[in-house]
Amino acid sequence: MQTFVTDSPEEAAACLNRGETVAFPTETVYGLGADIFRAESIAAIFKAKGRPSDNPLIVHVQSPDMINEVAREINEAARILIDRLFPGPLTLVLKKRSSVPDIVSAGLPTVGVRCPSHPIASAFLGFCDHPVAAPSANLSGRPSSTDWKTVYHDLGGKIDCLLRGAPSTIGLESTIVDCSVAPPLLLRSGAVSIERLLELIPEMKIATSCLPGQAPKSPGMKYRHYSPEAAIVLLDAPSLQLPADPHSAWIGLSALPEGLMHSLRCHSADEYARVLFGFFRTCDAQNIHTIYCELPPEQGIGRAIRDRLFKAAGKN
Ligand code: TXA
Ligand code: MG
Repeated sequence: MQTFVTDSPEEAAACLNRGETVAFPTETVYGLGADIFRAESIAAIFKAKGRPSDNPLIVHVQSPDMINEVAREINEAARILIDRLFPGPLTLVLKKRSSVPDIVSAGLPTVGVRCPSHPIASAFLGFCDHPVAAPSANLSGRPSSTDWKTVYHDLGGKIDCLLRGAPSTIGLESTIVDCSVAPPLLLRSGAVSIERLLELIPEMKIATSCLPGQAPKSPGMKYRHYSPEAAIVLLDAPSLQLPADPHSAWIGLSALPEGLMHSLRCHSADEYARVLFGFFRTCDAQNIHTIYCELPPEQGIGRAIRDRLFKAAGKN
């Protein structure tokens, strides 16, 4: 299969509307989309990614008004989160309408819904005939793709179309809140912080899957995730003395340790989030064997970075 690469949201949507798989940029990470009502196209997504079929997909809509097309109930908590935080890097799990095919929800009675704020994603979704089911556009188990070249590297020749855009500005996948249960439950941390969510929904609970070393809650959380080829070593405190090894790399917020050639100091937690997956990919391309990752403080997007680092290290 030849992957058609385009800069036009309209052309990409035309591909999707005739049943093709289309990768597209969003503010979190790139997604790999198909029309939710075309079971064959959805099956092609699972095949291209090598994704287990029991891992449900997030449904993307252009505007909050369209959530009713896939969800049969929007309760008070969901309404608050939609009004305050959509469009943006947040996914809500809601009771699904029976019209949403089982292959999208992996047989669950619920559906994850997200409304991206990214202008190209929004234009693309606006040209699509129906909501778009889309997981992250990477091979299953690998770090998510935050730029179009990485999407092409993983999926070129396996997907029909790639809508090119700028690199994702957030760099980590959306925050997921399950609003189908009372009280609502945070399933995945992301750029919408726990602090912000608790301001809006004080009774919200945090799933153990969001806490390092605990059992998975969201179906997709049980699989190996975000992993580069290199071994990940987590550092709890700044470490200035690491083995001087040409096959080791370091990423973190504090001063660069001496002696490592491949080091990346981030100047904020936002920057750390934005560059992390790209750094993993670069390390793999440069034959790095060990990546030392300094854990950022546990606040704001720092929690999401820590979550991805723990999972990449196989600690969760
Ligand atoms: O930022 C994002 O969320 C990106 C962009 C493309 O929107 N998408 C993304 O999709 O990260 P994916 O498939 O890589 O991760 C979706 C996660 C999986 O862990 C899946 O198990 C969970 O969402 N999920 C989807 N539907 C669910 C549901 N009905 N109940 C519980 N978890 C669900
Ligand atoms: Mg993913």
